[in-house]
Amino acid sequence: MPPTSLQTALQSLPTDAQEAVVDHQFIQPALLAALGFGTGEVYPQYDTGKGAVDYAVRKKSGEDVFLNTKANPYLLIELKGQDINLCEGSAGYKSTVAQLKRYLLGSSCQSAQWGIITNSVHIQLFRKHGKVIHPVTACLEITPENADKLIASLRRQIEQPTKALTVAVYNNKGGVGKTTTTVNLAAILTLLGKKVLVVDCDPNQQDLTSSLGLIANEGDVSEALMTRNGDLRPAIKPFVVTSKALGKAFSFDVIPADKRFVEDIDQEKKQLDEVQLRQKLKPEYLRRSLEPLKSEYDYILVDSPPNWRIFSQLAVYAADVVLMPTKHNNLFSLENAALVMKKFIPEAQKERGDVIPIALPIFFNGEKITPPQLAAAQHEVNNIVKLARKDGFDLVPHFYPRYTNAKRDLHIFEVPSYANIANAAFSRIPATYRDKTARDYYLALAKEYFLQ
Ligand SMILES: Nc1ncnc2c1ncn2[C@@H]1O[C@H](COP(=O)(O)OP(=O)(O)OP(=O)(O)O)[C@@H](O)[C@H]1O
Ligand SMILES: [Mg+2]
Repeated sequence: MPPTSLQTALQSLPTDAQEAVVDHQFIQPALLAALGFGTGEVYPQYDTGKGAVDYAVRKKSGEDVFLNTKANPYLLIELKGQDINLCEGSAGYKSTVAQLKRYLLGSSCQSAQWGIITNSVHIQLFRKHGKVIHPVTACLEITPENADKLIASLRRQIEQPTKALTVAVYNNKGGVGKTTTTVNLAAILTLLGKKVLVVDCDPNQQDLTSSLGLIANEGDVSEALMTRNGDLRPAIKPFVVTSKALGKAFSFDVIPADKRFVEDIDQEKKQLDEVQLRQKLKPEYLRRSLEPLKSEYDYILVDSPPNWRIFSQLAVYAADVVLMPTKHNNLFSLENAALVMKKFIPEAQKERGDVIPIALPIFFNGEKITPPQLAAAQHEVNNIVKLARKDGFDLVPHFYPRYTNAKRDLHIFEVPSYANIANAAFSRIPATYRDKTARDYYLALAKEYFLQ
């Protein structure tokens, strides 16, 4: 089929065009080429392992032609007719997104990094990083007037090399295990061969920095963040440790906390003055400074303080996703998680003019949970979810990720309480490298949230 311009293709479509018509008159002759895919690079009705997606595509690489190998797709496109409403929030939209996510996580799609849904009226791009799938754009309207520019911008994003997934570990409730989770997640991901950078964004406590026995920065972070194009590289310190248990050395990069943030202001006011700091430090500065480092890592993990002030904002604004440890027996930690989802994350999205960060499902950390306690926690979560629904928020996937109408599964992931996790901080070695049980717990966490 000879390629057509996007504009001509869209104008040729009848109103309410069915899926086959959208496919024949828009996708095949115009969209695939505009996204940069041609002969041998497109496979229709690709078996993802979880059902057939309309198109799987991948660029040719020498002799390696996708149409021949039918392996390792790069981008999946799920197509609908105009009779399916893809307006964000509609039933058609929700089920199509769920369908795309299912396909992206199919056993034949481990290599897939992008997904698109479109019905030729709307289009949305999603990114996949391991198990995490998040939107990259809103579900945008395509018109003959904006199509060239819009599709070119999607193409630019798709053609970019894979970048780190940035994870803020955050809950504005204190002592729920943010720092412990950050350190051990970094340790297990490193053990699994991923390249990890950890950022201690809590200069008041500096717990992460001291739990790894590292020396705090003295101005390198504050200078980098507050200077345009400031470079964070001088602030990066390698954390190197030999695990006796595993008979092997491990290393990941850390940006230790910067005590200059605290000291500078202490001298003048004897305490951290939020207003003064705010004038110098904007919430998007960490995100801006991490950007050039993203191509060097698989994961950037940011530990944050227990409040919603500037340093937590730096962490959340920098993130693609927010991971929230909570306590089953602490209502505040659950309510705070809901507040993050309903207020802080939308605030960050709005300020960024973006659709990320998004919240990952919460998990219970560091407590033994008996069945009656679990039932009580679920009761509280149900109340929180019900209340949020009145404000127009659907928090179910963030509390009960396995819940469907067919199967009302109230599973919440758990990192159990384990003394050797707490003790490890004193030895300056993450528990993951010292203890098999701790390692298993954090491997389960990494698999639950990040690894496909
Ligand atoms: N799974 C666990 N089992 C046992 N102890 C744990 C576990 N997770 C965290 N802890 C312990 O709980 C305490 C609080 O953890 P941590 O310092 O990570 O919380 P935090 O949320 O970072 O706190 P803050 O809000 O002060 O920054 C620490 O003593 C830590 O060792
Ligand atoms: Mg902490």
